[in-house]
Amino acid sequence: MPPKKIILDCDPGHDDAIALLLAHGSPEIELLAVTTVVGNQTLDKVTRNALVVARIGGISGLPFAAGCPRPLVRGIETAASVHGESGLDGPRMPEPTLALDPRHAVDVIIDTIMREEPGTVTLVPTAGLTNIALAVRKEPRIAQRVREVVLMGGACSGGNWTPAAEFNILIDPEAAHIVVNERWPLTMVGLDVTHQALATPDVVARIAAVGTGPAAFVVGLLEFFGEAYRRDQGFAHPPVHDACAVARVIDRTVVTTRYAPLDVELSGALTRGMTVADLRAPAPPRCTTQVGVGLDRDRFWDLLVDALERIGEPG
Ligand code: BDR
Ligand code: CA
Repeated sequence: MPPKKIILDCDPGHDDAIALLLAHGSPEIELLAVTTVVGNQTLDKVTRNALVVARIGGISGLPFAAGCPRPLVRGIETAASVHGESGLDGPRMPEPTLALDPRHAVDVIIDTIMREEPGTVTLVPTAGLTNIALAVRKEPRIAQRVREVVLMGGACSGGNWTPAAEFNILIDPEAAHIVVNERWPLTMVGLDVTHQALATPDVVARIAAVGTGPAAFVVGLLEFFGEAYRRDQGFAHPPVHDACAVARVIDRTVVTTRYAPLDVELSGALTRGMTVADLRAPAPPRCTTQVGVGLDRDRFWDLLVDALERIGEPG
């Protein structure tokens, strides 16, 4: 099987950084571009963080491009409480060495999808959906051209940033509404899945045992992220959300899904940003949206450890 081509649209972010390393170190994935969007921190910070991760992982030869500095309609809401002031607090951060692509992320997304063979590029958004919504509005043909969209965001039941809404959807619900209502195959890897990807001490020990710089960087990320999740979200161990979406692309069986009609609440006083999946009955035959319901934890962590082993010690 040829590797699956992906564009990672992200806001690093501890779990975005791990998702990027997982994608880079997996032979099943060909990373075509990395695009950034405001989210966990401001656009300048998350973009810098993406370039730092590129240096740590030895990722080069593909465009890194910055996208939207604010959501479509609403003001900026960051997640400094869990990702810190830099957006990637914790481990030591080297200076980036890669130069940013001069294009806007939206144009990189469009150019990449339109350049590649139809049905070959998977979009993997692990942040607010501002860039993706603008891309499909600017060039609607990408909706027929992508292979699928596999996003981290939302939930079938309950949120993490409000009782009803998950962070990536909440920060730009209008963009999420556009993205989930397009006629492209879309899989939502939400909190129902990612809250099963908890980096317990045995997992952290396995990553540490890889014994390389990138693995030590991931351990540093998980230490900060773990402490933040304990303090801020009442979790014993941190959920490595965004890597679950990449894992789904690497191996579909890692994330169990169900087809379900899906929409985003825009106007609810208490429920704005809630993803509403209709799981009451089997989905209608033409339904194009799937929601994640389960995670093969062992396989997920194996994929991450394998990826870090393959990355090794970049020169
Ligand atoms: C999502 O929100 C962000 O803080 C994380 O990076 C992840 O994409 C989890 O709700
Ligand atoms: Ca993210």
